[in-house]
Amino acid sequence: MSTTEPAKELTPLELARTAFEKAFEHRPDFLSRAPGRVNLMGGHVDYNDGLVLPVAVDLEVAVAFTPRDDRHIRIYAESFDETAEFDISELTPGSVGGWAAYPAGVAWAIAKADLPLSGLDAAVASNIPIGSGLSSSAALEVAFAAAFRQVSGLELPELKLAQLSQAAENNFVGVQCGIMDQVAAACALPGKALLLDCRTLGIRHVALPSGVRIVVLGTGIERQLRDSEYNERRRECAEAVKRLSAVDNDIRSLRDVEAEALQSLLRHLPPPLDRRARHVVGEIERVQLAAAALEASETERFGELMFASHRSLRDDFQVSSDELDGLVELARQAPGTVGARLTGAGFGGCTVNLATAALVDDFLDYVMENYHRLYGREADEFITDAARGVTVEKVGW
Ligand code: GLA
Repeated sequence: MSTTEPAKELTPLELARTAFEKAFEHRPDFLSRAPGRVNLMGGHVDYNDGLVLPVAVDLEVAVAFTPRDDRHIRIYAESFDETAEFDISELTPGSVGGWAAYPAGVAWAIAKADLPLSGLDAAVASNIPIGSGLSSSAALEVAFAAAFRQVSGLELPELKLAQLSQAAENNFVGVQCGIMDQVAAACALPGKALLLDCRTLGIRHVALPSGVRIVVLGTGIERQLRDSEYNERRRECAEAVKRLSAVDNDIRSLRDVEAEALQSLLRHLPPPLDRRARHVVGEIERVQLAAAALEASETERFGELMFASHRSLRDDFQVSSDELDGLVELARQAPGTVGARLTGAGFGGCTVNLATAALVDDFLDYVMENYHRLYGREADEFITDAARGVTVEKVGW
């Protein structure tokens, strides 16, 4: 029998640092890291000027880097064993594809904002599964935004890093995401959920109850249609606003529709726009109630609001799937459950669950076993605490 200890898995920071030394044959000067996120409440409301309540998760993208004295960028990606190289002055949307489009897009967005930008050599590593709904792309963008801030001597607050990252994703990568994921990756605090007003970009950090764990459950199914369906929902919301503003020209987004006024306004919207608007208006109100419930330590109430959010995303916004509904239903019946809902864009992907810490193993056993029995496949499970947003450190000698 071997007495060797099992090899300890390297963290993304250790991996990025080692990969840097291998690729560039010297030590990096700095390390940055940014986490993935999961949204506890507020589905599909960030692009409607609404309120959202994400937390950063314990998985992250790490970048080891050293400034260059020219405007050249070289990045070695540990996961793909690939190097991308480009000059800042040559960047145009579409000029870089694949994983490198994200850091390139951030460089492009910084240069486009007329901020001075220097080149760098970097190695990147991550333990956020790609396409899992935990926003590995926002983490990648924000970790690089912090690296560019460092090498260029820019004085930018974290929120600005999030805005530049979103601009990169919208205008360089070409994905019309809202601002939530980038703000969570940039600004989240450990142990806290981040209440973000997507209209004003005002942030309030709300403490999570002790004694509960955040459990992310993946359906194991990736939907290809995701981007086109997401864009379709965005178009529907914009169309609803157009019609409602013809009735009341103070309505510039669905955020401007008061919950009490909704019923009488719905008759101006043909299906499915009426359902879409009902989800968004109700969801924004639920996020406010959920944040208040957290602040009042009403954990059970918070859980009820999560289940209500799921029903609305399923029936009115229609972004759920059989497997997501199954996971939420199993969570409802499981021991130790507090609340569950689909999270991220939907159409597959994952659910976020709150479970009593002392019963989390029973909770997982129940849901995993029954999901396998009902759907013939394994769900992916991941337990996390609320983590910290982006950080940068100098490498010690
Ligand atoms: C995706 C987008 C976010 C947000 C969610 C839905 O994760 O990237 O901006 O719109 O979907 O809440």
